[in-house]
Amino acid sequence: MPISKFQKRFTEESGIGRLMEDLGGALAGRKNILMLGGGNPAHIPEVQQFFQERLHRIVEDPVEFAHIIGNYDPPQGEKRFIGALVDLFNDNYGWKIGPDNVVLTAGSQSAFFLLFNMFAGEYEDGSHRKILLPLTPEYIGYSDVGLVNDCFTARKPTIEKLDDHLFKYHIDFNRLEINSDIGAICVSRPTNPTGNVLSDTEIERLSSMASQNNVPLIIDNAYGLPFPNVVFTNANITWDKHIVLCLSLSKLGLPGARTGIIVAKPEIITAIAKMNAIFNLALGSFGPALALDIVKSGEILSLSNNVIRPYYQRKAGFAVRVLKRELEGVEYFIHKPEGAIFIWLWLPGLPVSCEDLYLRLKARGVLVVPGHYFFPGLAEDWRHKHECIRISYAMHDTVVEQGLRIIAEEIKKIYGV
Ligand SMILES: Cc1ncc(COP(=O)(O)O)c(C=O)c1O
Repeated sequence: MPISKFQKRFTEESGIGRLMEDLGGALAGRKNILMLGGGNPAHIPEVQQFFQERLHRIVEDPVEFAHIIGNYDPPQGEKRFIGALVDLFNDNYGWKIGPDNVVLTAGSQSAFFLLFNMFAGEYEDGSHRKILLPLTPEYIGYSDVGLVNDCFTARKPTIEKLDDHLFKYHIDFNRLEINSDIGAICVSRPTNPTGNVLSDTEIERLSSMASQNNVPLIIDNAYGLPFPNVVFTNANITWDKHIVLCLSLSKLGLPGARTGIIVAKPEIITAIAKMNAIFNLALGSFGPALALDIVKSGEILSLSNNVIRPYYQRKAGFAVRVLKRELEGVEYFIHKPEGAIFIWLWLPGLPVSCEDLYLRLKARGVLVVPGHYFFPGLAEDWRHKHECIRISYAMHDTVVEQGLRIIAEEIKKIYGV
């Protein structure tokens, strides 16, 4: 059967496709698998209990139940939820946004598909533009969403080696220029896969470069501020007319609700709402319904700050301690865990590729993600790309510890330590 270019583009093997298959397979019952690969958030008991109770109340209220299950929401998203988000941002950060600054999407993954294709590709004036990723490694899920081949251009970071087997990436502003072929800039903060949190100063510099060059700065807050706030450093949230802030309810504990949120200027909001109508008709109502009360009351912030953040911060500390203990005798670096739910392990001079290491670990029942998938848009070859793996620490401590022990064993075998 002849295949269309669209089919070819979106059915070729992709990093995110492989990752989600690994994740689905592991969660669908392969009980012996140690799943340190996917980005599934932890099932935090307090969070689960909260949403379970909320769901009970919805089910028992016939009017609310009928509204959620039986109506299409508008393509911009559920109005009460959008109103509550607007109040939350204005009350807590002194912003002056209105409902025309917020649109919902079917998960934030879908937001990135729409935004990247909106700002990259061929423009009406015949020019071609790309999304600039000022710092790679960057989120694997961006890599394959472009309708055009060269959707991204990316820059290598500078590497700061810290004490005690830690390191940190920084944006290399000396190599960062915004030319006329850039349609938008994008960063995830905290960064998936590294757990890096760009400093307020880095964000300010990017923001002023974006505004001077009249291009949007897309900030992916999937793990960030103000919810779920899996951020272990002193970082602040900022918004302006040229900033497109993307949030999600997934890492709060609701990945099944598929709810993404965009805060941007009205022209962008209207465009995304129109695209939502074409691609989805309407957005799912469950996410907004489950989260409405806590957004209204502001409890989403205390849940994030007092339950979710400390939960992951403890787990990050645990994972780093175990890995350091197990990797004794090997030359390795761990990216300073400043947020998100991953350890980014760098093995300088690794004698096999990270893909080989992934396959060896998979054969031993441990799933991680090989690092080379996290460099979308980085044209130049860089050995570093093949020397890193991403390890999630969201699973139960015993699974994390067992997985890390096997990872270290396999690495030591490779190095002959
Ligand atoms: C950095 C980042 N952005 C966006 C997403 C997409 O999340 P969702 O579509 O569940 O909102 C993820 C998911 O893992 C992520 O890690």
